[in-house]
Amino acid sequence: MSFAHKHIISTKVLSRADIDLILTTAQSFKEINQRDIKKVPTLRGKTIINLFYENSTRTRTSFELAGKRMSADTINIAAASSSVSKGETLEDTAKNIEAMDADVIVMRHPASGAPDYLAHRLSRCSVINAGDGAHEHPTQSLLDLMTIKEHKGTLEGLTVAIIGDIARSRVARSNLYALKTMGATVRLAGPSTMLPPGLEELGAEVYTDINAAIKDADVVMMLRIQLEREGGGKLLPTKREYAQFFALNPENMKLAKPDAIVMHPGPLNRGVEISSYVADGKQNVILEQVENGVAVRMALLYLLTGGSDKE
Ligand code: CP
Repeated sequence: MSFAHKHIISTKVLSRADIDLILTTAQSFKEINQRDIKKVPTLRGKTIINLFYENSTRTRTSFELAGKRMSADTINIAAASSSVSKGETLEDTAKNIEAMDADVIVMRHPASGAPDYLAHRLSRCSVINAGDGAHEHPTQSLLDLMTIKEHKGTLEGLTVAIIGDIARSRVARSNLYALKTMGATVRLAGPSTMLPPGLEELGAEVYTDINAAIKDADVVMMLRIQLEREGGGKLLPTKREYAQFFALNPENMKLAKPDAIVMHPGPLNRGVEISSYVADGKQNVILEQVENGVAVRMALLYLLTGGSDKE
């Protein structure tokens, strides 16, 4: 089976078959990352450009590793050290990169919709959204799904509680779409100021009481407060008050199923949305998420540049 999409902008347009193909392909690439010599020639001759207009540790590094482990030429461009600082537009920057015959542009941008805007203006390059404003973070969602599936064997029928700053979380939105497509129940929880209208219409169950959201969940996914997006106004009085009512701790975690897993996309704000006891506890799979991020990004680079599950 080959992959029908040229770009990865949103999980909303991915079918169950698309997600199954990505996760199966990622699972086969994961083995490469566990070898002594982590290198295969699969993407030799391909060029991947990481164009990051926002800070990143996990996403940028894992895309770079994914490309390099598959022998692609991988170049990182930070907006601050590029001609963006001289006033060049996003479209001009991307068209110049495409003119150098890049195959894939991986882009993180603070503006929602920026990767989609580029995807409509480039003729040859594939675009991968590495996080756009408060809109979507599709590759984070796919690595989350891979991690859940490894632990639970399936996504169908699971209850996933996603708790925190839902309004400004691109991870919550991408996971809501993808988990619903795969047959999971998605609970979104947080203070009412962090719950935008319209979530029920998208298929979510919505909670302001995190104990109710955690109860009998198979997966508890905590989100960071997006203070860097405070431009839209302050959504909580103090971090201390937030932690009192909305942090995951050993007590409220007992409400989840005994075999529930604890997830977080990172970076963690310990003591705010999650206590260190839980973040480092035996139910946490946070670093497994990071490990799977490399495999999922290898799979996406492979599928977008013409690979299929027959090769
Ligand atoms: N989860 C995530 O996107 O982390 P980074 O911001 O470090 O890439």
